[in-house]
Amino acid sequence: MKRIKIKELLNSKKEQEEVLVKGWVRTRRDSKGGFSFIEINDGSCLANIQVIVEHSLKEFSKLDKQITTGSSLAINGKLVSSEGKGQKMEIQTATIEVYGEAGAEAYPLQKKRHSFEYLREIAHLRPRTNTFGSVMRVRSRLAYAIHQFFNDRGFVYLNTPIVTTSDCEGAGEMFQVTTLDLTNPPKVDEKIDYSQDFFGEKTSLTVSGQLEGEVYALALSEIYTFGPTFRAENSNTSRHLSEFWMVEPEMAFYDLDDDMDLAEEFIKYLFVDALENCSEDMEFFNQRIDKTILETLQHIINNQFERLTYTDAIHYLEKSKETFIYPVEWGCALQAEHERYLSEKLFKKPIIVFDYPEKIKSFYMKLNEDGKTVRAMDVLLPKLGEIIGGSQREENHDVLLKRMKEANLDPEHYWWYLDLRRFGTAPHSGFGLGFERLVQFVTGMENIRDVIPFPRTPKHAHF
Ligand code: 4AD
Ligand code: MG
Repeated sequence: MKRIKIKELLNSKKEQEEVLVKGWVRTRRDSKGGFSFIEINDGSCLANIQVIVEHSLKEFSKLDKQITTGSSLAINGKLVSSEGKGQKMEIQTATIEVYGEAGAEAYPLQKKRHSFEYLREIAHLRPRTNTFGSVMRVRSRLAYAIHQFFNDRGFVYLNTPIVTTSDCEGAGEMFQVTTLDLTNPPKVDEKIDYSQDFFGEKTSLTVSGQLEGEVYALALSEIYTFGPTFRAENSNTSRHLSEFWMVEPEMAFYDLDDDMDLAEEFIKYLFVDALENCSEDMEFFNQRIDKTILETLQHIINNQFERLTYTDAIHYLEKSKETFIYPVEWGCALQAEHERYLSEKLFKKPIIVFDYPEKIKSFYMKLNEDGKTVRAMDVLLPKLGEIIGGSQREENHDVLLKRMKEANLDPEHYWWYLDLRRFGTAPHSGFGLGFERLVQFVTGMENIRDVIPFPRTPKHAHF
């Protein structure tokens, strides 16, 4: 007999003579009347199916002690309408098979609320909790929606390399990749001789697929990447991971306004998709994690993002009566506290800040005519802060060359990137969306470590 997933069973309206379900016991309650109620979950949905086991069942006395929270079972029985409130259907058991016991005392996930900090220490078991099941189903759906959004618009899905010799953000925050003997590396003139390393030059894990994305956008017009990125910055915040997934569309013939339009449409599309296709899980988040999340998402979907220049943002911050830890003056980087004030308190909705000072942004961003600002934009969400960073790219060879030198990047090393500006250069733009920050915002989860299966952060790469 073929196994049916619990989601399907709970959705089915009609009773069935025989069904087979498999899953893990969430709770068990014994009744004096000679039967037990067992709640089974198989991860297909948030809800459990209730199973009723008569103690008179032939194999029950043998299995009794094995059926505890966390054990895995196969249940064969009759699907009937439930008389209890809360559930629509339940199973009257005919036969039970126990696949694996979970040890009543030893199993770390007993039926009570555990803190997210504790659950991070048992990252191999936390997917069996309601919260992590819901987070991962929403995460999966959002990934699917991202592909659908770009596919529907004719974007080509591009896989950019993970091992790279370029530093896209020019921040030097890269994890090195090497097969050299670290206790005794080969040297010439006191310096490590990377010609003897695996790739014959110094390599690292990528911080962004953008540079390679530009190559393909200037041939296929519209591409997007969706892959892991790595940053060796020592940021221990609730919004930073050392390994995270980024979505990076790159479009030929788009200027910054087109780029901002796409970013806004993209975020709204993803919020609508999650609300429509993950209603059970979203309802759970609204009840248990953040009581305003459904309302917040709906509000964002229904309103235009506020667009303002960096210079205006500075004016608003200077005029505000807030006391900020980091002082505000034209030229400073916007800190989380500044971003939150603007989007959360002042505008009370997502904002897009654009035309940032050239000095605080990456070398590849297009220089404005004022010579002081670049065509950069950040999308900032209330509470979360930056979810998207993007820009129109510098398409002028000489300006780019100058900016590279100022950023201490070796133009000879980036010859192929400069070549794009020699052969058929064109205006083009793109952005990067942090996938975990998206999942964090949609689910209302406080800490980014709780929206990725196995978080990597400074001093943590276990599991
Ligand atoms: O603003 P960033 O650094 O932009 C880029 O990397 C560009 N190359 C993107 C492009 O234009 N193609 O990063 C983009 C987004 C941020 O807005 C943020 O959402 C996310 O990536 N991000 C992180 N997410 C989690 N942990 C980190 N340490 C992150 N750093 C950036
Ligand atoms: Mg950024």
